[in-house]
Amino acid sequence: MTSFPTNRLRRLRTNQTMRDILASVRLHADELIAPLFVREGSGVSSPIESMPGQFQLSVDTALETARRWAGLGLRSVLLFGIPDKKDAVGSEAWNDAAAVQRLTSEIKNAIPDMLVITDVCLCEYTEHGHCGTLVEGDGPMDVDNDATLESLARTAASHARCGADIVAPSAMMDGQVQAIRSMLDADGFANTAIMSYAVKFASALYGPFRQAAEGAPSSGNRKTYQMDYRSPLQIQSEAALDVQEGADMLMVKPAWTYLDVISEVRRNFDLPLAAYHVSGEFSVLHAAAANGWIDLKDAAIEVTSAIKRAGADLIITYFAEQLAQWI
Ligand code: PBG
Ligand code: ZN
Repeated sequence: MTSFPTNRLRRLRTNQTMRDILASVRLHADELIAPLFVREGSGVSSPIESMPGQFQLSVDTALETARRWAGLGLRSVLLFGIPDKKDAVGSEAWNDAAAVQRLTSEIKNAIPDMLVITDVCLCEYTEHGHCGTLVEGDGPMDVDNDATLESLARTAASHARCGADIVAPSAMMDGQVQAIRSMLDADGFANTAIMSYAVKFASALYGPFRQAAEGAPSSGNRKTYQMDYRSPLQIQSEAALDVQEGADMLMVKPAWTYLDVISEVRRNFDLPLAAYHVSGEFSVLHAAAANGWIDLKDAAIEVTSAIKRAGADLIITYFAEQLAQWI
């Protein structure tokens, strides 16, 4: 064993070319998934104040955006719907004529090579803003797990009918992957894949998204269904259950603040792994950059690279468009 001064680790960092040939963690546009918020109407392009550079779009402007992204080399989008109509169970979520469904079929017609992933949840569609149907009665408010499964499955089937390549259930109901897989198979969509938000924590970092998607719970919080970040033991069981139920890909969310979780899931499961670099993780970088405290481009590339280095195969990020231009 040699040591200093024979050993000098700085030798491998002497110049840019040396550093570049040794840079094994590199971002590719292929692995970036761009979230997109779509609502009813036409010609809509409303900036989301909490998320600089992000917009609520209508189907027409969203299609233009998807075309622009495809031109930059992005291969996949993740669609979120913002409905005009909300009710107790979120029934607009499985309306084949709603914005997400129309946009899905328009993208698949216009840009067939672009993968359309749809978020399957009910919080944007329920008037109370929870991710499912509430338990009836006077007890403490909670989401009725089993009653919600049917709604999630119908939503996924509706997305599949409109051409979604991948459905991504994010409600954190036990059994949701199984319920969706059975309905998709029964309806003839054996090839529609499921990217399960398997390991999703209740997080303060979803704050800006709730403004973007207009789906904040009107009372209470999501802690009875989303995971507790203080209890890492559940990571294994949550991922394992979804694998057993038929998930094709797993997801960890948030990403930047949960790099250890990404590594753990990577080590223990051999399914493709996505990580969701969430709204709060995006907005803090923008806020710091706006104050001149960090360089946005360098910081965004560094953080996204860290997510990849931790073990993510796919990265869902609001920086997707900019990263595709930068890398
Ligand atoms: C809804 C959903 C949320 C996000 C994705 N799907 C919010 C939540 O669970 O409260 C958060 C995404 C982000 O913050 O970027 N099921
Ligand atoms: Zn939800």
